[in-house]
Amino acid sequence: MEKIGQTLYQPLEIDPTPLTALSQNRQIYEAVSVAVSLGVFKHLRTPGTPGELAGKLAIDGDVAYYLLKLLAHAGCLTEDRGKFSATPLADAYLHEDSPFYLGHEFTLTCEYGRQLLAALSPQTPRNTPEPEWTRERLRQIGVFGMMGSIQSTVEAAELSAARRLLDLGGGHGFYSIAFAQKYPQLEVTLFDLPHVASYADNFVREFSLQQRVHTRGGDFLADDIGHGFDAVLCANVLHSNKRDVLLVKIRQAINPGGQLIIKTRIGDVADNLENAATKLLWQAKGGRELFSFAEWQGFLASHGFRNAELAGISGIYATIIAQAGGNDG
Ligand SMILES: C[S@@+](CC[C@H](N)C(=O)[O-])C[C@H]1O[C@@H](n2cnc3c(N)ncnc32)[C@H](O)[C@@H]1O
Repeated sequence: MEKIGQTLYQPLEIDPTPLTALSQNRQIYEAVSVAVSLGVFKHLRTPGTPGELAGKLAIDGDVAYYLLKLLAHAGCLTEDRGKFSATPLADAYLHEDSPFYLGHEFTLTCEYGRQLLAALSPQTPRNTPEPEWTRERLRQIGVFGMMGSIQSTVEAAELSAARRLLDLGGGHGFYSIAFAQKYPQLEVTLFDLPHVASYADNFVREFSLQQRVHTRGGDFLADDIGHGFDAVLCANVLHSNKRDVLLVKIRQAINPGGQLIIKTRIGDVADNLENAATKLLWQAKGGRELFSFAEWQGFLASHGFRNAELAGISGIYATIIAQAGGNDG
C-alpha cells in the first residue's frame, strides 16, 4: 500500500472547511427540523426555560437546553436570563399559523435528526451502552480528529524530554503517529482492545513507524496497562465509569512527575454557533457528560495529579495536562 505522506501534527494539506461547514449546516438544518416537528416555535411565542418547554412537550430537559442554545445561535430564538423565545424570523416562517410558514422545507432528512429526536425522548435510557468499536467507527473518529483536534493536542503537549508515551484507548492510532512524528526520540505504546490494536497496526505501518509505535491489545479496565511511562495520553476515553478506574491505574503506570494528557469535551467553552452544534451532536449521539474545566481539575486532584492546566482548545475539545505526583501522593 502506498505510504501516507501527511505529517499528522500539522494542518491537513487540503483545507476541508468547505465540506465540514456543509456537514455542520446539515446538523443545524436537522435541529431546526426537529424543533418544527415538535412545535417548539409555537410554544416559545411566550418566553420559557428549557425545563418549562420540556414539561409542555414531554421531552428531556437537558437535551432541550442544548437544542434551544443551538436554535438561538441559528437566529430562530433569543435567550434572555435563561428564558428562550421565538424571534420574528421563527414567528414569520416556522410557526404553522403564519401565512408564510416554511415548515415543509424542514423535514428530517438523515439519521442525525432521528438520533436527536430519540435523545429528546424521556424513554431513551440515559446511560447508553458502550458502542461497538468497529473499524469504520474508529476510522470516522480518526478522520474527525484530523480536522484540527489532534493537531491541537500535539501542539499543547511538550514531550521533548519524554522517552515513553502510553496512548490509552488509542483507537485508530493517529495521536500515536502524530506524537511519534513530532518527537523522534519517543517510543509509543498504543493500548486498545485486541481487534482495535491490530487495526491501528495497519496505520502505523502505512506511516513506517512500526519501530517506535507498538500496539498492545487488552482490556484497560481489567488488564495490566504497563508502567514506567513518562507521559500517558487519554484521548476521549475517560467517560463515566471508566474515569475513576483508569485514573487509579494511570497513577501506577506513570513515572512520578510524568505528564497526563487528557483530551475531552468540556462545557465551558466559547458560546458560539459551532460549539452549540457540537454540544448538541454529543447529546444526540448519547453522550451526556459535559464537565467544566474546574470539574476536571477536581477529578484529577482527587487522584493525585497536580497543576492541571487547560493547555489547548479546539472547538469544545480541551487538552488538559497534569503532572503525576509521587507514588503515594
Ligand atoms: C472514543 S474512542 C477514542 C479513540 C482515540 N483515542 C481518539 O480520541 O480519537 C475510545 C477508544 O477506547 C477503546 N476502548 C474502550 N473500552 C476499552 C477497554 N475496556 N479496553 C481497551 N480499550 C478500550 C475503544 O476501542 C476506542 O478505540
